[in-house]
Amino acid sequence: MGEANIFRMCEGFYAELETSAVRHMFPQDMKEASKKIAAFLVGLFGGPPLFQELYGAPQMRARHLGFAIDEAARQTWLNCFKKTLEHPDKYNFPSEYLPGFIRFIDEFSAWMVNRKPA
Ligand code: HEM
Repeated sequence: MGEANIFRMCEGFYAELETSAVRHMFPQDMKEASKKIAAFLVGLFGGPPLFQELYGAPQMRARHLGFAIDEAARQTWLNCFKKTLEHPDKYNFPSEYLPGFIRFIDEFSAWMVNRKPA
């Protein structure tokens, strides 16, 4: 799908997060914020390790510890991503990889949960 499409997909995802219940956790500039996860996904999808080059060691769980992420926040985050992925053609996302990627975000996001329900 190429780097540019991954960055565009993450912009679309952060546009979903913009109107979600977890919006308050994210910085003002969502377009800018979306570039970090895009850089991470470029590496994950087999491209250059952009995240490491720009921001250092991934340490994803540690990077999320400052945010109170409970199961509800995870579901909100996941639903925003799933909504974005309802239009894979928009980003040239190869449909044969879609189920595997959804499984990945499902499992990986569980790892970011760092709080019991309020
Ligand atoms: C469980 C649901 C998740 C929530 C609620 C969540 C929330 C957040 C928040 C609030 C930030 C900080 C934004 C900022 O300051 O720029 C962040 C950063 C980030 N998230 Fe998540 N996240 C979740 C899961 C994930 C997953 C599964 C991934 C990877 C596939 C991911 C990748 C990233 C990256 C790369 C950053 C930037 C880290 C940095 O500051 O250097 N997140 N996330």
